[in-house]
Amino acid sequence: MRIFSAMSGTSTDGISYVIFDIDKEFKFNIIKNGHKSYSKKIKTKLLNIAESRIVDKVEIAKLHWELGKILKDIYEKESISCDLGVFSGHTIYHDGPRKITLQIGDVTLLNYSSKIPVVTDLRYSDIAAGNQGAPLVPFADSIIYGKDKIILNIGGISNITVTGDRPYGFDSGPGNMLLDQAMRFFYRKDMDFEGELSLKGEILEDLIKILSKDNFISKKPPKSTGRERYGREFFEKIIEYSKRENPDKKDIIATLAYFTSYSIYKNIVNFIGNWKNMEIICAGGGCKNKGIIERLEILLNKKIIMSDNLGVPWDARESLAFGIIAYLSLLMELGIDNKGILAYPYGKITIASMEKSILQLK
Ligand SMILES: Nc1ncnc2c1ncn2[C@@H]1O[C@H](COP(=O)(O)OP(=O)(O)O)[C@@H](O)[C@H]1O
Ligand SMILES: [Mg+2]
Repeated sequence: MRIFSAMSGTSTDGISYVIFDIDKEFKFNIIKNGHKSYSKKIKTKLLNIAESRIVDKVEIAKLHWELGKILKDIYEKESISCDLGVFSGHTIYHDGPRKITLQIGDVTLLNYSSKIPVVTDLRYSDIAAGNQGAPLVPFADSIIYGKDKIILNIGGISNITVTGDRPYGFDSGPGNMLLDQAMRFFYRKDMDFEGELSLKGEILEDLIKILSKDNFISKKPPKSTGRERYGREFFEKIIEYSKRENPDKKDIIATLAYFTSYSIYKNIVNFIGNWKNMEIICAGGGCKNKGIIERLEILLNKKIIMSDNLGVPWDARESLAFGIIAYLSLLMELGIDNKGILAYPYGKITIASMEKSILQLK
């Protein structure tokens, strides 16, 4: 079966997608992957909603449709015919412990124009089953990378998966979210490209002390977080510090990169027994930041393996994982043996013409 799976993460940088084939033995083959950046206008609106600067139902409804249109345009532009589409939506609010989550990005347009079934809203099923709605990827990570590995995803937020027969995962804290805000505020750039400033700057110990007051990092899993915690309100503390102490702005960037490395390190050491004997694999945009990765390797005293070197590009891992979860769910829905990997089906399926995918599966 050929799957088109797309993903929009907390970085709000755009839609990353992958087109891959998968068979009943869960062997997969990536045909193509890509990324469509959001326009400045859409990005600003999504960030404003996430930060509650706009809570306008008309804006939210419009964006719900516009994201769906971007999704449809990507699929049409790629022009590779698939049997199933997957998009769980862009999170505009998530509070796992309180079981509140909302994603936008309507898949109906893709479904209607392409006539392929599309799986969406994967997080709601996880919450209905008593979990936190995030992270969802551990099941799929075991298929992608194999057993007994630690998989880091350094997106806007960082999450960690431990693969195996009973895979589990949790968010560890910030990924690039604080760094990106600092780059925008101090340098008017979207990111610290390749981690140049993150590597060059000095670590500001007094800023680390302020950041370390955040109790999420030491909290025991299960746990999940998002822009609600590491968005503008958290960033205000960094602005205040900067106004008071007037440090070199590249030192702020380096310190925020270090804070990401440190929080991942702390979570691995505190919550993953036997971590020293496991391979650590990294995906997500943060693995392009040398400042984050090099400092993390020093803290762990261990080499980190890049997902790209295992054939899964850093930007494809999450959409691939969501695609695999949707595939497993579809097998379950159709009563086809999925080797007991999922305890319940995830997501809703928007049906245009199921015949094609059923034929592919049977
Ligand atoms: N070449 C790069 N150098 C440094 N950082 C990068 C690079 N490419 C991406 N990033 C960082 O990764 C982020 C996007 O990561 P991504 O995995 O897409 O996260 P999300 O899933 O939250 O959207 C960007 O906002 C940026 O901070
Ligand atoms: Mg992204």
